[in-house]
Amino acid sequence: MALHKGPAKHDERTLSVNPFFGEANPVGGMTEAPPTHRLPDAPLPPSTAYQLVHDELMLDGNSRLNLATFVTTWMEPQAGVLMAECRDKNMIDKDEYPRTAELERRSVAMLADLWNAPDPSAAVGCSTTGSSEACMLAGMALKRRWATRNTDRYPGGARPNLVMGVNVQVCWEKFCNFWEVEARLVPMEGDRFHLDPRAAAELCDENTIGVVAVLGSTFDGSYEPVADLCAALDALQERTGLDIPVHVDGASGGMIAPFLDEDLVWDFRLPRVASINTSGHKYGLVYPGVGWALWRDREALPEELVFRVNYLGGDMPTFALNFSRPGAQVVAQYYTFLRLGRDGYRAVQQASRDVATGLAGRIAALGDFRLLTRGDELPVFAFTTADHVTSYDVFDVSRRLRESGWLVPAYTFPANREDLSVLRVVCRNGFSHDLADLFLADLERLLPGLRRQPHPLTRDKETATGFHH
Ligand SMILES: Cc1ncc(COP(=O)(O)O)c(C=O)c1O
Repeated sequence: MALHKGPAKHDERTLSVNPFFGEANPVGGMTEAPPTHRLPDAPLPPSTAYQLVHDELMLDGNSRLNLATFVTTWMEPQAGVLMAECRDKNMIDKDEYPRTAELERRSVAMLADLWNAPDPSAAVGCSTTGSSEACMLAGMALKRRWATRNTDRYPGGARPNLVMGVNVQVCWEKFCNFWEVEARLVPMEGDRFHLDPRAAAELCDENTIGVVAVLGSTFDGSYEPVADLCAALDALQERTGLDIPVHVDGASGGMIAPFLDEDLVWDFRLPRVASINTSGHKYGLVYPGVGWALWRDREALPEELVFRVNYLGGDMPTFALNFSRPGAQVVAQYYTFLRLGRDGYRAVQQASRDVATGLAGRIAALGDFRLLTRGDELPVFAFTTADHVTSYDVFDVSRRLRESGWLVPAYTFPANREDLSVLRVVCRNGFSHDLADLFLADLERLLPGLRRQPHPLTRDKETATGFHH
């Protein structure tokens, strides 16, 4: 969460209460002026408090027009009802809420099957708050396995490292920082915007706890070549004896590839893949607050990391950073699994991919832009301005699209492609062909004005965009 500061000195702001809010007595409303940065002395009627908070939140963006986020912004009313029914349930109280615990267990079993665990009954997994927590847990397991194998050298000087593409999501930088692991990053090169298997294998040594492969990249939606990476690590093992496990960060792709790319081998079918995560709240199609981490078998998740909580007179193993956590999202995930099944997921994800590839093609046809990806892996595509466009840049496009309510992030790529700045569009369930038409019409309408600019106009490029990789 953001680290906020206390109130600024002398911030004596108060909220003004409309007389109409004063329930039975309109004058009551006129006399209230609750402070904004101090706990008010007196209570307010609930309708007044509700209205004040509601009105302030009207200024938040419209989440459905947010093409920056991967997170689900639409669910069916029935899912909303179930979530409301479960909002008082604490996920950790397995003994008090055994049915919620059971739905979590079933969801893990479904994912183990979906991701082709060789023996789904041997796979272990848990729900998390999202992929970031799932990645932390997977990274911790990798680190502990390495530490156990290297007790003679660690902590006596050996420093563990994790190999990954420079395009990894920020959660991996956090993992390395928090758990004191060196991040070994494979840079981008030319038109390769994600991990190169050979370069990754070359960065591995006896202190490598694992290699992370991303399905698909947050930067451009492309899938990293997981099978080729495993092959490169097999070859490394033959040459050097080093046996390096792979974690697949399937935050988004873990819920796309099983339905749309069934022939792509990226999951537990590859013996080197030790663990996989996904965000239930991305293409798992659940509102924010749920992720999943799975290990292929008990060996991949060291037993000493597991805690036990009371469950129906016995004990249930748990692995999490949090203790208390809402149960509603897990219930919503199970509901969505049950509701859609494989065919339903396939249809929904195919619709998002169709919107993405269709929109990408039409943006390319405008002539001003060059596509980096086409939305045919994740339903996500990145594009930049064509070489002949000099009067505006991607930051101008991002800024101007906000005028129509669209949030489309613009950002600069990392090493070695810092010269390249792009726009990225995430097509999610609910971003329909109709909305895509409206988006394209808005983009087209901006172009004449942008072309007339003397030069790119966005000065503060950092704040112009909503990109948080
Ligand atoms: C590849 C990848 N990994 C991890 C994350 C973090 O996921 P979450 O937001 O669920 O914590 C993201 C989020 O965009 C991602 O794209």
